[in-house]
Amino acid sequence: MPDTDLLSLQIDHVGILQSRYEQVLEDHGYDGLLISSGAAPMCYGDDQSWHFQGYGPFLHWTGLAGFEHAWLLIRKGKKPQLSLHQPVDFWHASLEVSQEPWLEKFDLRFSESPSAPELEGISQLAVIGDPALLAGLPGDENPGALCNALDETRVHKTAYEIACLAQANKLAIAGHHAARDAFLAGASEFEINLAYQRATQQREVDAPYNSIIGVNGHAGILHYQYYDTAAPAKSRSLLIDAGVRYRGYCSDITRTTAGVGEGRFAALVHGLEQLQFRLCKMVAPGVDYLDIHRKTHFGIAALLSAAGLVEGLSDEEQVSEGITRAFFPHGIGHFLGVQVHDVAGKPVAPPDDAPFLRLTRTLEAGMVVTIEPGLYFIPSLLAPILSGPLGHHINRSLLDELQGCGGIRIEDNVVVTESGYRNLTREVEA
Ligand code: GLY
Ligand code: MN
Ligand code: MN
Repeated sequence: MPDTDLLSLQIDHVGILQSRYEQVLEDHGYDGLLISSGAAPMCYGDDQSWHFQGYGPFLHWTGLAGFEHAWLLIRKGKKPQLSLHQPVDFWHASLEVSQEPWLEKFDLRFSESPSAPELEGISQLAVIGDPALLAGLPGDENPGALCNALDETRVHKTAYEIACLAQANKLAIAGHHAARDAFLAGASEFEINLAYQRATQQREVDAPYNSIIGVNGHAGILHYQYYDTAAPAKSRSLLIDAGVRYRGYCSDITRTTAGVGEGRFAALVHGLEQLQFRLCKMVAPGVDYLDIHRKTHFGIAALLSAAGLVEGLSDEEQVSEGITRAFFPHGIGHFLGVQVHDVAGKPVAPPDDAPFLRLTRTLEAGMVVTIEPGLYFIPSLLAPILSGPLGHHINRSLLDELQGCGGIRIEDNVVVTESGYRNLTREVEA
Protein backbone atom coordinates (compact mmCIF):
# COMPACT_ATOMS: atom_id res chain seq x y z
CA MET A 1 0.00 0.00 0.00
CA PRO A 2 1.45 3.43 -0.88
CA ASP A 3 2.04 5.87 1.96
CA THR A 4 -0.85 7.85 3.41
CA ASP A 5 0.41 11.14 1.94
CA LEU A 6 0.09 9.76 -1.57
CA LEU A 7 -3.34 8.33 -0.86
CA SER A 8 -4.59 11.62 0.48
CA LEU A 9 -3.09 13.49 -2.49
CA GLN A 10 -5.07 11.12 -4.70
CA ILE A 11 -8.31 12.16 -3.00
CA ASP A 12 -7.44 15.79 -3.81
CA HIS A 13 -6.60 14.75 -7.38
CA VAL A 14 -10.03 13.20 -7.89
CA GLY A 15 -11.69 16.36 -6.53
CA ILE A 16 -9.64 18.56 -8.87
CA LEU A 17 -10.55 16.38 -11.84
CA GLN A 18 -14.22 16.49 -10.91
CA SER A 19 -14.22 20.28 -10.98
CA ARG A 20 -12.09 20.50 -14.15
CA TYR A 21 -14.36 18.05 -15.95
CA GLU A 22 -17.57 19.69 -14.74
CA GLN A 23 -16.34 22.98 -16.14
CA VAL A 24 -15.38 21.46 -19.49
CA LEU A 25 -18.73 19.63 -19.79
CA GLU A 26 -20.63 22.80 -19.02
CA ASP A 27 -18.55 24.82 -21.52
CA HIS A 28 -19.38 22.29 -24.24
CA GLY A 29 -23.06 21.79 -23.41
CA TYR A 30 -22.92 18.24 -22.01
CA ASP A 31 -24.37 16.87 -18.81
CA GLY A 32 -22.72 13.47 -18.98
CA LEU A 33 -19.50 11.93 -20.24
CA LEU A 34 -18.84 8.22 -20.65
CA ILE A 35 -15.19 7.17 -20.88
CA SER A 36 -14.17 3.74 -22.16
CA SER A 37 -10.95 2.28 -20.76
CA GLY A 38 -10.44 0.43 -24.05
CA ALA A 39 -9.63 -3.18 -24.87
CA ALA A 40 -6.79 -4.83 -26.73
CA PRO A 41 -7.76 -5.59 -30.33
CA MET A 42 -7.51 -9.17 -31.55
CA CYS A 43 -4.73 -10.07 -33.98
CA TYR A 44 -6.17 -10.65 -37.44
CA GLY A 45 -6.80 -14.32 -38.15
CA ASP A 46 -5.72 -15.40 -34.68
CA ASP A 47 -7.24 -15.90 -31.25
CA GLN A 48 -4.74 -13.67 -29.43
CA SER A 49 -4.92 -9.98 -28.71
CA TRP A 50 -2.34 -7.21 -28.95
CA HIS A 51 -0.96 -5.80 -25.72
CA PHE A 52 -3.31 -3.52 -23.89
CA GLN A 53 -2.55 0.11 -23.04
CA GLY A 54 -5.44 1.88 -21.30
CA TYR A 55 -7.00 5.05 -22.71
CA GLY A 56 -5.50 8.25 -21.30
CA PRO A 57 -8.61 9.92 -19.81
CA PHE A 58 -9.51 6.70 -17.98
CA LEU A 59 -5.98 6.46 -16.55
CA HIS A 60 -6.10 10.14 -15.60
CA TRP A 61 -9.04 9.42 -13.27
CA THR A 62 -8.19 5.94 -12.03
CA GLY A 63 -4.56 5.02 -12.76
CA LEU A 64 -5.88 1.50 -13.48
CA ALA A 65 -3.65 0.66 -16.44
CA GLY A 66 -4.63 -2.96 -17.04
CA PHE A 67 -8.44 -2.85 -16.90
CA GLU A 68 -10.09 -3.63 -20.23
CA HIS A 69 -13.79 -3.00 -20.93
CA ALA A 70 -14.11 -0.69 -17.94
CA TRP A 71 -16.29 2.41 -18.07
CA LEU A 72 -16.35 5.68 -16.22
CA LEU A 73 -19.38 7.98 -16.18
CA ILE A 74 -18.83 11.60 -15.17
CA ARG A 75 -21.76 13.88 -14.34
CA LYS A 76 -22.04 17.23 -12.62
CA GLY A 77 -22.59 16.96 -8.88
CA LYS A 78 -22.51 13.15 -8.87
CA LYS A 79 -19.85 10.66 -7.84
CA PRO A 80 -18.01 9.29 -10.86
CA GLN A 81 -19.49 5.89 -11.66
CA LEU A 82 -16.76 3.31 -12.27
CA SER A 83 -17.79 -0.02 -13.83
CA LEU A 84 -15.13 -2.71 -13.84
CA HIS A 85 -15.50 -5.73 -16.06
CA GLN A 86 -15.32 -9.01 -14.16
CA PRO A 87 -16.46 -11.77 -16.47
CA VAL A 88 -17.05 -15.35 -15.42
CA ASP A 89 -14.03 -16.77 -17.22
CA PHE A 90 -12.14 -19.94 -16.37
CA TRP A 91 -9.43 -19.15 -18.94
CA HIS A 92 -8.28 -15.84 -17.50
CA ALA A 93 -7.93 -14.13 -14.14
CA SER A 94 -9.77 -10.91 -13.39
CA LEU A 95 -7.70 -8.02 -12.14
CA GLU A 96 -8.46 -7.05 -8.56
CA VAL A 97 -8.68 -3.44 -7.48
CA SER A 98 -6.99 -2.66 -4.15
CA GLN A 99 -9.28 -1.26 -1.50
CA GLU A 100 -7.80 2.22 -1.31
CA PRO A 101 -9.38 5.46 -0.06
CA TRP A 102 -9.85 7.03 -3.51
CA LEU A 103 -12.45 4.39 -4.35
CA GLU A 104 -14.77 5.88 -1.72
CA LYS A 105 -15.06 8.89 -4.01
CA PHE A 106 -16.43 6.64 -6.77
CA ASP A 107 -19.64 4.71 -7.22
CA LEU A 108 -17.95 1.36 -7.90
CA ARG A 109 -19.74 -1.42 -9.76
CA PHE A 110 -18.73 -4.71 -11.30
CA SER A 111 -20.14 -6.09 -14.51
CA GLU A 112 -19.93 -9.50 -16.13
CA SER A 113 -20.63 -7.85 -19.47
CA PRO A 114 -18.09 -5.85 -21.47
CA SER A 115 -20.87 -3.50 -22.59
CA ALA A 116 -21.34 0.06 -21.39
CA PRO A 117 -23.48 0.59 -18.27
CA GLU A 118 -27.08 1.87 -18.37
CA LEU A 119 -27.16 5.53 -19.28
CA GLU A 120 -30.34 7.06 -17.89
CA GLY A 121 -31.30 10.63 -17.12
CA ILE A 122 -28.61 12.19 -19.31
CA SER A 123 -29.89 14.53 -21.99
CA GLN A 124 -26.59 15.62 -23.56
CA LEU A 125 -24.11 12.75 -23.48
CA ALA A 126 -20.62 12.47 -24.94
CA VAL A 127 -18.83 9.12 -25.20
CA ILE A 128 -15.07 8.95 -25.65
CA GLY A 129 -12.58 6.18 -26.34
CA ASP A 130 -11.65 3.70 -29.04
CA PRO A 131 -14.43 4.06 -31.66
CA ALA A 132 -14.53 0.26 -32.07
CA LEU A 133 -15.93 0.02 -28.52
CA LEU A 134 -18.39 2.90 -28.80
CA ALA A 135 -20.48 1.56 -31.68
CA GLY A 136 -24.21 1.65 -30.94
CA LEU A 137 -23.91 3.86 -27.88
CA PRO A 138 -26.07 6.96 -27.60
CA GLY A 139 -24.50 10.43 -27.44
CA ASP A 140 -21.82 12.25 -29.40
CA GLU A 141 -18.79 10.10 -30.14
CA ASN A 142 -15.36 11.65 -29.49
CA PRO A 143 -16.43 15.24 -30.19
CA GLY A 144 -13.25 17.03 -31.23
CA ALA A 145 -13.64 20.28 -29.29
CA LEU A 146 -14.58 18.44 -26.11
CA CYS A 147 -11.68 15.97 -26.46
CA ASN A 148 -9.24 18.85 -26.94
CA ALA A 149 -10.55 20.54 -23.81
CA LEU A 150 -10.28 17.27 -21.85
CA ASP A 151 -6.69 16.86 -23.07
CA GLU A 152 -6.02 20.32 -21.68
CA THR A 153 -7.09 19.12 -18.20
CA ARG A 154 -4.00 16.89 -18.28
CA VAL A 155 -1.46 19.63 -18.93
CA HIS A 156 -1.07 20.98 -15.38
CA LYS A 157 -0.27 18.04 -13.17
CA THR A 158 -1.76 17.79 -9.68
CA ALA A 159 0.47 17.18 -6.68
CA TYR A 160 -0.65 13.54 -6.78
CA GLU A 161 0.43 13.15 -10.38
CA ILE A 162 3.84 14.66 -9.68
CA ALA A 163 4.29 12.29 -6.72
CA CYS A 164 3.47 9.34 -8.99
CA LEU A 165 5.85 10.56 -11.68
CA ALA A 166 8.57 10.94 -9.04
CA GLN A 167 8.04 7.36 -7.91
CA ALA A 168 8.07 6.14 -11.52
CA ASN A 169 11.47 7.83 -11.84
CA LYS A 170 12.79 6.25 -8.65
CA LEU A 171 11.80 2.77 -9.79
CA ALA A 172 13.25 3.26 -13.27
CA ILE A 173 16.59 4.57 -12.02
CA ALA A 174 17.14 1.30 -10.16
CA GLY A 175 16.67 -0.42 -13.52
CA HIS A 176 19.06 1.94 -15.29
CA HIS A 177 21.78 1.26 -12.74
CA ALA A 178 21.32 -2.48 -13.14
CA ALA A 179 21.40 -2.12 -16.93
CA ARG A 180 24.63 -0.10 -16.81
CA ASP A 181 26.27 -2.64 -14.53
CA ALA A 182 25.22 -5.49 -16.82
CA PHE A 183 26.64 -3.66 -19.86
CA LEU A 184 29.96 -2.98 -18.12
CA ALA A 185 30.12 -6.69 -17.25
CA GLY A 186 29.83 -7.51 -20.97
CA ALA A 187 26.14 -8.50 -21.17
CA SER A 188 24.14 -8.71 -24.40
CA GLU A 189 21.21 -6.40 -25.14
CA PHE A 190 18.88 -9.24 -24.19
CA GLU A 191 20.63 -9.75 -20.85
CA ILE A 192 20.65 -6.01 -20.19
CA ASN A 193 16.90 -6.00 -20.74
CA LEU A 194 16.51 -8.82 -18.23
CA ALA A 195 18.62 -6.90 -15.71
CA TYR A 196 16.37 -3.85 -16.19
CA GLN A 197 13.21 -5.89 -15.76
CA ARG A 198 14.54 -7.66 -12.69
CA ALA A 199 15.54 -4.41 -10.99
CA THR A 200 12.25 -2.68 -11.81
CA GLN A 201 10.08 -5.76 -11.17
CA GLN A 202 8.14 -4.84 -14.25
CA ARG A 203 7.10 -7.06 -17.14
CA GLU A 204 7.80 -5.73 -20.61
CA VAL A 205 4.07 -5.54 -21.37
CA ASP A 206 3.47 -3.36 -18.34
CA ALA A 207 6.18 -0.83 -19.24
CA PRO A 208 5.08 2.53 -20.62
CA TYR A 209 6.90 1.74 -23.89
CA ASN A 210 9.25 -0.90 -25.23
CA SER A 211 12.67 -0.30 -23.71
CA ILE A 212 15.23 0.86 -26.25
CA ILE A 213 18.47 -0.97 -25.47
CA GLY A 214 21.18 -0.40 -28.06
CA VAL A 215 24.76 -1.58 -27.72
CA ASN A 216 27.47 -0.15 -30.02
CA GLY A 217 26.06 0.88 -33.43
CA HIS A 218 22.50 0.15 -32.31
CA ALA A 219 22.74 3.17 -29.99
CA GLY A 220 22.46 5.28 -33.14
CA ILE A 221 19.01 3.94 -34.09
CA LEU A 222 16.63 6.32 -32.36
CA HIS A 223 13.90 3.78 -31.54
CA TYR A 224 15.93 0.57 -31.89
CA GLN A 225 13.45 -2.24 -31.24
CA TYR A 226 15.36 -5.56 -31.10
CA TYR A 227 17.65 -7.21 -28.56
CA ASP A 228 20.72 -9.12 -29.69
CA THR A 229 21.10 -12.26 -27.63
CA ALA A 230 24.86 -12.36 -28.22
CA ALA A 231 27.16 -9.77 -26.68
CA PRO A 232 29.54 -8.06 -29.12
CA ALA A 233 33.25 -8.89 -29.01
CA LYS A 234 33.83 -5.43 -27.57
CA SER A 235 31.16 -3.47 -25.68
CA ARG A 236 31.83 0.11 -26.74
CA SER A 237 28.63 1.92 -25.79
CA LEU A 238 25.16 1.45 -24.33
CA LEU A 239 22.12 3.64 -24.89
CA ILE A 240 19.13 2.61 -22.81
CA ASP A 241 15.84 4.51 -22.98
CA ALA A 242 13.44 2.87 -20.54
CA GLY A 243 10.74 3.78 -18.05
CA VAL A 244 8.36 2.41 -15.46
CA ARG A 245 4.63 2.86 -15.11
CA TYR A 246 3.53 3.60 -11.53
CA ARG A 247 -0.20 3.89 -10.78
CA GLY A 248 -0.68 4.78 -14.44
CA TYR A 249 2.12 7.37 -14.60
CA CYS A 250 5.19 6.96 -16.81
CA SER A 251 8.85 7.71 -16.49
CA ASP A 252 10.90 8.12 -19.67
CA ILE A 253 14.63 8.12 -18.96
CA THR A 254 17.66 7.66 -21.19
CA ARG A 255 21.23 7.04 -20.15
CA THR A 256 24.32 6.43 -22.28
CA THR A 257 27.41 4.66 -20.99
CA ALA A 258 30.81 4.49 -22.66
CA GLY A 259 32.64 1.19 -22.60
CA VAL A 260 36.05 0.73 -21.03
CA GLY A 261 38.78 2.45 -23.06
CA GLU A 262 36.37 4.62 -25.09
CA GLY A 263 37.92 7.90 -24.03
CA ARG A 264 36.75 10.04 -26.92
CA PHE A 265 33.20 8.74 -26.75
CA ALA A 266 33.17 9.11 -22.96
CA ALA A 267 34.24 12.76 -23.37
CA LEU A 268 31.32 13.34 -25.73
CA VAL A 269 28.91 11.67 -23.28
CA HIS A 270 30.23 13.93 -20.55
CA GLY A 271 29.90 17.00 -22.79
CA LEU A 272 26.33 16.14 -23.73
CA GLU A 273 25.46 15.61 -20.09
CA GLN A 274 26.82 19.05 -19.20
CA LEU A 275 24.69 20.51 -21.99
CA GLN A 276 21.68 18.55 -20.71
CA PHE A 277 22.15 20.06 -17.23
CA ARG A 278 22.20 23.55 -18.73
CA LEU A 279 19.03 22.82 -20.74
CA CYS A 280 17.23 21.52 -17.63
CA LYS A 281 18.13 24.76 -15.88
CA MET A 282 16.30 26.67 -18.61
CA VAL A 283 13.00 25.05 -17.58
CA ALA A 284 10.84 27.70 -15.90
CA PRO A 285 7.41 29.31 -16.29
CA GLY A 286 7.27 31.71 -19.23
CA VAL A 287 10.00 29.95 -21.22
CA ASP A 288 9.14 28.95 -24.78
CA TYR A 289 10.01 25.24 -25.04
CA LEU A 290 11.10 25.86 -28.63
CA ASP A 291 13.86 28.10 -27.26
CA ILE A 292 15.23 25.13 -25.29
CA HIS A 293 15.16 23.07 -28.47
CA ARG A 294 16.97 25.77 -30.44
CA LYS A 295 19.50 26.30 -27.66
CA THR A 296 20.28 22.58 -27.87
CA HIS A 297 21.42 22.98 -31.47
CA PHE A 298 23.96 25.61 -30.47
CA GLY A 299 25.16 23.39 -27.64
CA ILE A 300 25.56 20.47 -30.05
CA ALA A 301 27.52 22.70 -32.43
CA ALA A 302 29.89 23.72 -29.64
CA LEU A 303 30.35 20.08 -28.68
CA LEU A 304 31.06 19.00 -32.25
CA SER A 305 33.73 21.69 -32.54
CA ALA A 306 35.25 20.93 -29.15
CA ALA A 307 35.45 17.23 -30.00
CA GLY A 308 37.10 18.04 -33.34
CA LEU A 309 34.31 16.35 -35.30
CA VAL A 310 33.51 19.59 -37.14
CA GLU A 311 36.30 21.95 -38.09
CA GLY A 312 36.29 25.46 -39.49
CA LEU A 313 32.59 26.29 -39.05
CA SER A 314 31.11 28.60 -36.44
CA ASP A 315 28.29 27.37 -34.22
CA GLU A 316 25.88 29.60 -36.16
CA GLU A 317 27.01 28.12 -39.49
CA GLN A 318 26.67 24.59 -38.20
CA VAL A 319 23.08 25.31 -37.15
CA SER A 320 22.02 27.27 -40.21
CA GLU A 321 23.60 24.76 -42.61
CA GLY A 322 21.80 21.83 -41.02
CA ILE A 323 24.94 20.16 -39.67
CA THR A 324 23.57 19.98 -36.13
CA ARG A 325 20.30 18.51 -37.38
CA ALA A 326 22.18 15.63 -38.94
CA PHE A 327 23.67 14.84 -35.52
CA PHE A 328 20.56 15.75 -33.46
CA PRO A 329 17.53 14.98 -35.64
CA HIS A 330 14.72 14.73 -33.05
CA GLY A 331 13.00 17.19 -30.75
CA ILE A 332 14.27 18.14 -27.29
CA GLY A 333 11.31 16.42 -25.64
CA HIS A 334 7.62 16.31 -24.87
CA PHE A 335 4.95 16.35 -22.16
CA LEU A 336 4.91 13.35 -19.83
CA GLY A 337 2.04 11.87 -17.83
CA VAL A 338 -0.23 8.83 -18.16
CA GLN A 339 1.07 8.67 -21.72
CA VAL A 340 4.77 8.86 -22.48
CA HIS A 341 4.17 11.41 -25.19
CA ASP A 342 1.41 13.12 -23.26
CA VAL A 343 -1.36 15.02 -24.99
CA ALA A 344 -1.91 18.70 -25.79
CA GLY A 345 1.71 19.50 -26.57
CA LYS A 346 1.17 20.92 -30.05
CA PRO A 347 -1.68 23.44 -30.23
CA VAL A 348 0.44 24.88 -33.03
CA ALA A 349 2.52 22.82 -35.43
CA PRO A 350 6.29 22.88 -34.93
CA PRO A 351 8.29 25.18 -37.19
CA ASP A 352 10.13 23.91 -40.27
CA ASP A 353 13.48 23.84 -38.46
CA ALA A 354 12.08 21.52 -35.73
CA PRO A 355 9.68 19.17 -37.54
CA PHE A 356 9.80 16.43 -34.89
CA LEU A 357 9.33 18.67 -31.87
CA ARG A 358 6.39 17.31 -29.83
CA LEU A 359 5.87 20.34 -27.63
CA THR A 360 5.43 23.87 -28.97
CA ARG A 361 4.07 25.65 -25.89
CA THR A 362 5.31 28.21 -23.43
CA LEU A 363 6.04 26.46 -20.15
CA GLU A 364 3.74 26.94 -17.15
CA ALA A 365 3.99 25.74 -13.57
CA GLY A 366 2.64 22.19 -13.20
CA MET A 367 3.70 21.01 -16.64
CA VAL A 368 6.03 17.99 -16.74
CA VAL A 369 8.40 17.65 -19.68
CA THR A 370 11.34 15.58 -20.79
CA ILE A 371 14.68 17.15 -21.65
CA GLU A 372 16.47 14.73 -23.97
CA PRO A 373 19.29 16.05 -26.14
CA GLY A 374 21.01 13.55 -28.39
CA LEU A 375 24.09 13.32 -30.57
CA TYR A 376 24.19 10.40 -33.01
CA PHE A 377 26.29 9.09 -35.87
CA ILE A 378 23.52 8.08 -38.29
CA PRO A 379 24.91 7.16 -41.71
CA SER A 380 21.78 8.10 -43.71
CA LEU A 381 21.68 11.59 -42.18
CA LEU A 382 25.43 12.22 -42.40
CA ALA A 383 25.83 11.00 -45.99
CA PRO A 384 24.38 14.15 -47.63
CA ILE A 385 26.61 16.36 -45.45
CA LEU A 386 29.72 14.31 -46.22
CA SER A 387 29.08 14.36 -49.95
CA GLY A 388 28.01 18.02 -50.01
CA PRO A 389 29.98 21.26 -50.12
CA LEU A 390 30.59 21.28 -46.37
CA GLY A 391 31.82 17.68 -46.23
CA HIS A 392 35.45 18.73 -45.85
CA HIS A 393 34.56 20.33 -42.48
CA ILE A 394 33.82 16.90 -41.02
CA ASN A 395 36.72 14.96 -39.51
CA ARG A 396 36.08 11.63 -41.22
CA SER A 397 38.63 9.55 -39.42
CA LEU A 398 37.21 10.62 -36.06
CA LEU A 399 33.69 10.04 -37.34
CA ASP A 400 34.70 6.56 -38.53
CA GLU A 401 36.10 5.81 -35.10
CA LEU A 402 32.96 7.01 -33.26
CA GLN A 403 30.42 5.55 -35.69
CA GLY A 404 30.69 2.19 -33.98
CA CYS A 405 29.48 3.76 -30.73
CA GLY A 406 26.18 4.70 -32.39
CA GLY A 407 25.17 7.75 -30.43
CA ILE A 408 24.22 9.39 -27.18
CA ARG A 409 20.94 10.46 -25.60
CA ILE A 410 20.46 11.72 -22.07
CA GLU A 411 16.89 12.18 -20.91
CA ASP A 412 15.42 13.41 -17.63
CA ASN A 413 11.85 14.12 -16.49
CA VAL A 414 11.43 17.68 -15.29
CA VAL A 415 8.57 19.51 -13.52
CA VAL A 416 8.00 23.20 -14.20
CA THR A 417 7.64 24.76 -10.73
CA GLU A 418 6.42 28.26 -9.76
CA SER A 419 10.00 29.54 -9.76
CA GLY A 420 11.94 27.18 -12.00
CA TYR A 421 12.24 23.44 -12.27
CA ARG A 422 12.43 20.20 -10.35
CA ASN A 423 14.36 17.34 -11.95
CA LEU A 424 12.55 14.15 -10.90
CA THR A 425 15.24 11.94 -12.40
CA ARG A 426 18.39 13.44 -10.92
CA GLU A 427 16.91 13.76 -7.44
CA VAL A 428 16.74 9.96 -7.17
CA GLU A 429 19.97 9.18 -9.01
CA ALA A 430 22.77 8.55 -6.56
N1 GLY B 1 11.15 6.91 -25.12
C1 GLY B 1 10.71 7.68 -26.22
C2 GLY B 1 11.05 9.08 -26.05
O1 GLY B 1 12.01 9.41 -25.40
O2 GLY B 1 10.37 9.96 -26.50
MN1 MN C 1 11.12 11.02 -24.27
MN1 MN D 1 12.80 8.18 -23.92
